[in-house]
Amino acid sequence: MQSPMTQPATAAPPVTPYALIGGEPGVRRLVESFYDAMETDPAFAALRAIHAPDLMPMRARLADFLVQWMGGPRIYAERHPGRGCVVSAHRPIPIDARLADQWSACMRQALTTAGVAPELGAVLDPAFDAMCQGLRNAPDGGDRNG
Ligand code: HEM
Repeated sequence: MQSPMTQPATAAPPVTPYALIGGEPGVRRLVESFYDAMETDPAFAALRAIHAPDLMPMRARLADFLVQWMGGPRIYAERHPGRGCVVSAHRPIPIDARLADQWSACMRQALTTAGVAPELGAVLDPAFDAMCQGLRNAPDGGDRNG
């Protein structure tokens, strides 16, 4: 008889934000809510202004990125080879405190609109905000839009 120490570990799937949000459909729902808010809410006008007129490519790119970031399959790396990291992708974009705060607030709104469980939202919201603040690379008032 095997002792408990030598029994093979049961392969319980890891509990990831990706699993908790409902997999890829849950992530895509969040991203749709995010860009819907960016397109319609005047509170995010400056953020909208620095994005391309057509948000369809970004809807796909951010969803692919978040699938991977939340612990799902590595589809961002596969579908967008050579894109580099998020920090280098944002280096050419002047991001001041106002733009960082708009991104963060837009995502906070999307977490609610998309129906993400409040307990998960309470973990994701500060994580998104920390990322936004870390991406700031321009002095306040440094962006030229609005
Ligand atoms: C700090 C505030 C942020 C601003 C102002 C910002 C702005 C932008 C803009 C203007 C683009 C290019 C959009 C286009 O081509 O239409 C972009 C791309 C992107 N952003 Fe952000 N972003 C911010 C934060 C974030 C965060 C927190 C994430 C991840 C959670 C993120 C993920 C991405 C991704 C994955 C891309 C596509 C990069 C690529 O494949 O080239 N962004 N962002």
